[in-house]
Amino acid sequence: MVHLPRALATLALSTSVLAFPSLSSRAQAASQHCGKSDNVILQGTPWIVYNMLYNANLMVGTQCTNFDQVTGGNKEVLWNSVTDIQYVESTNNVPKGYSFVGLTENLATQLSTITSIPSTYSWTRTNTTAFKGNVCFDFIINDIKDDSTSSSARELMLWLQYEGGQLPIGWTDGAISTVNDLFGTSWKLYQGVNEGTGITVITLMPETQFAGTFTGDLKDWLLALSKLGHFPESTYVNVGNAGTEFFYGNAVLKAQLGLQITLG
Ligand SMILES: *[C@@H]1O[C@H](CO)[C@@H](O)[C@H](O)[C@H]1NC(C)=O
Repeated sequence: MVHLPRALATLALSTSVLAFPSLSSRAQAASQHCGKSDNVILQGTPWIVYNMLYNANLMVGTQCTNFDQVTGGNKEVLWNSVTDIQYVESTNNVPKGYSFVGLTENLATQLSTITSIPSTYSWTRTNTTAFKGNVCFDFIINDIKDDSTSSSARELMLWLQYEGGQLPIGWTDGAISTVNDLFGTSWKLYQGVNEGTGITVITLMPETQFAGTFTGDLKDWLLALSKLGHFPESTYVNVGNAGTEFFYGNAVLKAQLGLQITLG
């Protein structure tokens, strides 16, 4: 839940890297990323694959985020997250990090000028021990363009699936509203400040969890939050990604993701 700010420097660099057309003319090799902020920019695509271990010091074990391939004419990315983290009583409630595919294109754009955020996310998780964690989307908006770290920023989480008793920030305050008829289910909204970043996190938890497939236009999610008064449609979408948070367990998530921001 703390993750994205440290990814931003890399995201900013990616624009210039993507400018070399020769690099996109052949398939990028599969790669493994097991270090604390280990990542790979996927040339000729709108994505970066990132292994973010923001609580690596509390982690006993290993965690890798791996790029497999881009498919469907650069429309989807196949990737996986391999978690082997011991259950430790004192830190079982602390997320160790976030394994994700992040957007590198069409960010720092006003919500009102975004045409759509089409997304397809499918996954399977196999585990050999109890696993605690989720599958989610995570965006950061702010009325300040390109600023995802000031206290005026809002981290928006859309949880698709969660296991092992993971709870959102703000859980103890209870749900503060309900969003009906979004992506085929209703959602409870939880809000609270992440003490690690100082940023308010707004999480939607589904009434019916997604069992391995999600398709939707994520602009509908952002507009629903705007209609509830959390931010104006003129706000800037500064960060956007899809991934999995993990606390402990021995588990492998295999995922296929399509995600982009389209502008009119
Ligand atoms: C896989 O994880 C879930 C959620 O923690 C758990 O209920 C299940 O028992 C786990 N499977 C094994 C084989 O440990």
